[in-house]
Amino acid sequence: MKLLEVKNLKTYFDTSKGQLKAVDDVSFDLDYGEALGLVGESGCGKTTSALSICRLLPKEGKVYGGEILLEGSDLAKLSDDEIRRHRWKDISVIFQGAMNALNPVMNIGDQIAEAVMLHDGLSKADALKRAGDLLELVEISRGRVANYPHEFSGGMKQRVMIAMALACNPKVVIGDEPTTALDVMVQAQILNLLEKLRKELNMGLILITHDLSILGETCDKIAVMYAGKIVESGTVADIFENAKHPYTKKLIGCFPNVEKEKRIPDGIKGAPANMLHPPAGCPFHPRCEMAAEQCRVEIPQQKKAGTSHQVACHLAEV
Ligand SMILES: Nc1ncnc2c1ncn2[C@@H]1O[C@H](COP(=O)(O)OP(=O)(O)O)[C@@H](O)[C@H]1O
Ligand SMILES: [Mg+2]
Repeated sequence: MKLLEVKNLKTYFDTSKGQLKAVDDVSFDLDYGEALGLVGESGCGKTTSALSICRLLPKEGKVYGGEILLEGSDLAKLSDDEIRRHRWKDISVIFQGAMNALNPVMNIGDQIAEAVMLHDGLSKADALKRAGDLLELVEISRGRVANYPHEFSGGMKQRVMIAMALACNPKVVIGDEPTTALDVMVQAQILNLLEKLRKELNMGLILITHDLSILGETCDKIAVMYAGKIVESGTVADIFENAKHPYTKKLIGCFPNVEKEKRIPDGIKGAPANMLHPPAGCPFHPRCEMAAEQCRVEIPQQKKAGTSHQVACHLAEV
């Protein structure tokens, strides 16, 4: 049995301008100790996917269909009260910019202890001991429990957020752009830490990012999202060495390769699809140099391009 299986997830926002299909028939799975990278430009539905899994959507957002199977049982069927018991204990999220949410007037140990007490029902003394253990887990000396957030660097604050996410030994951790606000060196340290922890603790990790280049060394597999759909998925090697979708190819071309000659990333021409009025056919066709008539009218279905490699493009050769 897989640790997590998301099948045909559909999450829509009912807005004053109409229904917006932020996540439209998305499927992926995750094993114990495995890391999945979910990548795509801003607005493609990454955060909405994460929020759907933990049932943290704003009220205008709703899961209209699909299954979210955690060790075989469907989280989408649970009541709000029941899902609360899974949050933090089974699945926890590190949100984008979470480190800025630390309370400036409370020391780090008390803040972690508070999270531990809330979710695990430990006594204050036990929770404080656990806070020290958690700091050590994220490679901060336990003596720092008495420090306040302003005494920590950005990278250390983000480690504290990771410590909090791990407080109740979750089986799945979702990091939503966990390193986007950090400089490159610190970003690499945090990613290494997440990599080490998911292997040590045998937890599943979903790493959400707009930056494909960070996924090569941190993930086992990658799902590329465009306009609410997964357009290509496969192992890191499938994606980096054998990308089939024109969008994935563009994303790869988007970051400079330091080993080859220096290259200025050219970006992807055109804007992401308007999700309220997505184009007919393949949502990427207005930006795709290869687009043919079929691409303008028919939504491409997933095709198998290898054992674990799938692509949704009419023109991809598989
Ligand atoms: N509360 C909301 N109300 C209406 N639309 C929303 C809301 N939150 C997100 N969206 C829309 O859903 C789409 C997906 O957003 P999001 O999941 O945040 O993308 P990503 O995390 O990939 O940048 C976007 O078009 C965004 O504008
Ligand atoms: Mg997001």
